[in-house]
Amino acid sequence: MSDIAAFHTLLRGSPRILAVVGAGLSASSGLPTFRGAGGLWRNYESTSLATPGAFARDPALVWLFYAWRRHVCLQAQPNAGHRALAALAKAQGSDFLCLTQNVDNLHERAGHPADTLRHLHGRLFDVKCSTCRKTKYNTDDPLVPALAPASEDYPACENPLLDPGRPVPKIPTSELPHCSCGGIQRPGVVWFGENLDGRMLREVDAWIDAKPVDIVLVIGTSSVVYPAAAYAERARTRHTKVVTVNLDPETEAAEPGDLVYIGDATQLLPALLAPITGATSSL
Ligand code: APR
Repeated sequence: MSDIAAFHTLLRGSPRILAVVGAGLSASSGLPTFRGAGGLWRNYESTSLATPGAFARDPALVWLFYAWRRHVCLQAQPNAGHRALAALAKAQGSDFLCLTQNVDNLHERAGHPADTLRHLHGRLFDVKCSTCRKTKYNTDDPLVPALAPASEDYPACENPLLDPGRPVPKIPTSELPHCSCGGIQRPGVVWFGENLDGRMLREVDAWIDAKPVDIVLVIGTSSVVYPAAAYAERARTRHTKVVTVNLDPETEAAEPGDLVYIGDATQLLPALLAPITGATSSL
C-alpha cells in the first residue's frame, strides 16, 4: 500500500482533483454494493431489476425494489468518507469535481455542494416520467399509499420489503406514481443499457479539458462500468496521477504507477485529505 505522506505531497500547491466514486463509499453506511455479497434483494440480483425490460415486464416489482432502496437509504447516515469529500469540495471549489456512480443522497446529506457533484447514474430520489421524461426530486416515498396500509398481516410501520419472509405486496399499475401527462413514472436512475445524461457528460469533459487535472481519486469502485471507469484510464494517458482507494487488495481499479490505498474509504479519506480538510485522522 502506498504511503499516505506520498499523497499529502501531491496535495501541496492546491491541485485540481477529480474524484470518481462507487458503491464502496456508501458500503460503510450500510448500503449494499452491487458486486459484493450484499447485492441481493429478496434473492433478486439487483442488476436484474435495474433495466428497462424489468420495468416494462413488472413496473410494480421494480418500484418495490426502489422503494426498498429508498427506505434503506433514508435509514442510512453519511459517513466520514462522504464528509471528507464534502470538506474537500468546499476547500477546493471549482478545482474539484466529484463524479459519483452512487444514486443515494449521502453526499448531499454530508453537505457536499451541488455544483461540484455529478450523479453519473442518476438519483434514487428522482422520479422520471416514462412518457414526457419530466423529472422531479422528492424524498417522499411515492409508494407510501401502496405500502402503508395497515393489515392484520403486518402493521403500517413495518415495511414488507424489508422482510424477505413476507410476500411482496401486489400493486396494480394504476396505483404506481403517474405524471400529470398521464405517463407512468419510474425511478430517476440510469438503468443498464441506457445512456447517461449527455449534457452532464459534456459538462464533465469541459471541466476536465479546461485546465490540467493533477489527481484522479478513484474511490470504492470496481471500475467495470463505463463511462465512469474511463476517467481514470484517460487520466493515465495524460500523466495525471491516479490514486485508488479500495477495500479489495485485488481491485481492478488500480494500475501500476497509481498510488494505491487498501482499506475502508471512511477511514482512509479523512487521513488522505487531512492537509486540505484539516480533518483529524485515526490512521
Ligand atoms: N471502502 C472502499 N472500497 C470498498 C468498500 C469500503 N468500505 N467496500 C467495498 N469497496 C469496494 C469493493 O472492493 C469494490 O471494488 O467498492 C467496490 C464496489 O464495486 P461495485 O459493487 O461494482 O460498485 P460500483 O463500482 O459502484 O458499480 C458501478 O455498476 O451496477 C452498476 O450502476 C451500478 O453504479 C453502479 C456501477
